[in-house]
Amino acid sequence: MSENKITYIKNENVKEKPASDQLSFGKYFTDHMFIQDYTPDKGWHNARIKPYEPLILDPAAIVFHYGQTVFEGLKAYRTEDNTIQLFRPDKNMERLNHSNDRLCIPQIDEEFAIDAIKQLVEIDQDWVPNAPGTSLYIRPFIISTEPYLGVAPSANYQFIVILSPVGAYYAEGINPVKIAVENQFVRAVKGGTGEAKTAGNYASSLKAQEQVASEGYAQVLWLDGVEKKYIEEVGSMNVFFKVNGEVITPELNGSILEGVTRNSVIELLKSWDIPVTERKITMQELNDHYEKGELEEAFGSGTAAVISPVGELAWEGKKMVINNGDTGEIAKRLYDVLTGIQYGKENDPFDWLVKV
Ligand code: COI
Repeated sequence: MSENKITYIKNENVKEKPASDQLSFGKYFTDHMFIQDYTPDKGWHNARIKPYEPLILDPAAIVFHYGQTVFEGLKAYRTEDNTIQLFRPDKNMERLNHSNDRLCIPQIDEEFAIDAIKQLVEIDQDWVPNAPGTSLYIRPFIISTEPYLGVAPSANYQFIVILSPVGAYYAEGINPVKIAVENQFVRAVKGGTGEAKTAGNYASSLKAQEQVASEGYAQVLWLDGVEKKYIEEVGSMNVFFKVNGEVITPELNGSILEGVTRNSVIELLKSWDIPVTERKITMQELNDHYEKGELEEAFGSGTAAVISPVGELAWEGKKMVINNGDTGEIAKRLYDVLTGIQYGKENDPFDWLVKV
């Protein structure tokens, strides 16, 4: 049951846009938003694009108390000839439904959601920035809105999409970041919600991040939640290591988020005949490679983070400086080709782009 028509209410009070070359991440929001409601009798219905404004929610809404909510992150890019294009939105909508399933949220119509995103971006197209490295970040999310304090799936939901013109996620921009391996807290365990994109995973990461931020680390690298041995992910990005010419990334295990950029990196590396392996890797093994001079590069991948080289990894009191703290060759090539495809400067051999 879903009604696939989008009503449009124009915002007559448009905001001033920030200068495109002064954007950081996620601070500005465009003039419109998309909303669709879900009720058990009507399914998803009442899709509308309307002026961006605060939501009115009952203080007892389940989302505030038990965090039954999911989100996604994707981007729209402006090309040199002023086309606006989305990068692999189908993968994001597929993952949104995967997260929905884990959080007992009703499935959305993926094609309709992509269409809604395209319409919203088209309406707010003047907000897609054009300075190098900038884009329009698209944040679809679903919240549980039923006012009820019992612990149970909500009857009602809202699916919302907001847009934010963004620059680099990290203050370092595309320069290498420093990451600290977390050894006190854990992000996720198998059977938990680690592979879903849900708010609780991010809320529970804040304490660890706050602790390392004062020492100059951008983020923490999470280890597995049981043995605290195996490398998992950074939270805002998946991780890759180049060891003796081979690129290794932790295999998906139920507690690691399946990144769209992670998947794209693997596809690109395969197409370049660079050996890439998804497997378990411990911090001890990585450290052994480092000691033998075999750890050639480390980098993260994510929609917000794009490709972020890791210049230093702190683990158990030791500082591992990787590739002299500089951007490695593979990270640079991946960054150039991936952004080249996204901004329409390179061919799109995998058909990843969807024009708005
Ligand atoms: C993304 O890369 O889109 C993310 O969701 C990471 C983050 C900003 C939470």
